[in-house]
Amino acid sequence: MAARFLLLAILALASSHALASDPSQLQDFCVADPGSNVFVNGFVCKDPKMANAEDFFSSGLDKPGNTGNKLGSNVTLLDVTQIPGLNTLGISVARLDFAPYGFLPPHTHPRATELLTLLEGTLYVGFVASNNQLFTKVLNKGDVFVFPQGLIHFQFNKGKTNAVAISGLSSQNPGVILVPNAVFGANPPISDDLLAKAFQLDKKTVDWLQAQFSMGNSN
Ligand SMILES: *[C@@H]1O[C@H](CO)[C@@H](O)[C@H](O)[C@H]1NC(C)=O
Repeated sequence: MAARFLLLAILALASSHALASDPSQLQDFCVADPGSNVFVNGFVCKDPKMANAEDFFSSGLDKPGNTGNKLGSNVTLLDVTQIPGLNTLGISVARLDFAPYGFLPPHTHPRATELLTLLEGTLYVGFVASNNQLFTKVLNKGDVFVFPQGLIHFQFNKGKTNAVAISGLSSQNPGVILVPNAVFGANPPISDDLLAKAFQLDKKTVDWLQAQFSMGNSN
C-alpha cells in the first residue's frame, strides 16, 4: 500500500514536471478579451460566437524592424497582445532583425523555449546551462537552434550583412529579461555595494554601468 502510494506520488511529480510551458486549453480556443477586468492566468475568453478569423491573424512580418539603435537589432514579437487568438495556446512568434554586428545581449524568456530559424545572414548564438556550460553555434541560412526555457542566451551577427530570423516561442506571453538591464538598470537600483562584490568590480565601475543602463538610457 505504502509502495503503491509512493509510486503514485512519483508519477504525479513526474507528470507535473512535464507541464513546463503554458497550461493546456480546455476548449478549441479562448480568444483574449482584453477589455475584461476579471484577472485570470492569461486573459478571459471573449464569447466564442463572437470570434472571427481576424482574432487569429496578423500581417507585416515580412517587414524588417528598425535596427538603428544601440544594439543594432530589433525584435518584432507577435504574442497574445497582438494576436488575441493565441490566448491559452502556449505559442507565439517573433521576427529578429540584426544589422551587421548587431546583437541581442544575454537574456532569458522566463516562460518559453525558443526555436530559432535563420532566414538570412549568419548568427553566433548560444545559451548557458545551469551548470554554466556554454552551448554555442554559428548559424547559417536555414539553420535552426533551440534555446531551452529560462536559460540565458544571446545572438550576435558577426557577419557583414543583415541577419533575419524567425523564432517560435512556447508561450502566449514568453516575457524577456535582459541580463545587463535587469542587473544594472533595475529601478530603483540594486545596491552598488552588493553589485561591486558580486561582479568583483570597484564601485565606480558599477556606478558607471548603472548610469549606462538607467531608465531611458537603455537603447
Ligand atoms: C523596432 O522596429 C520598429 C518598426 O520599425 C520600431 O517602431 C521600433 O522603435 C524598433 N525598436 C527599437 C528598439 O529600435
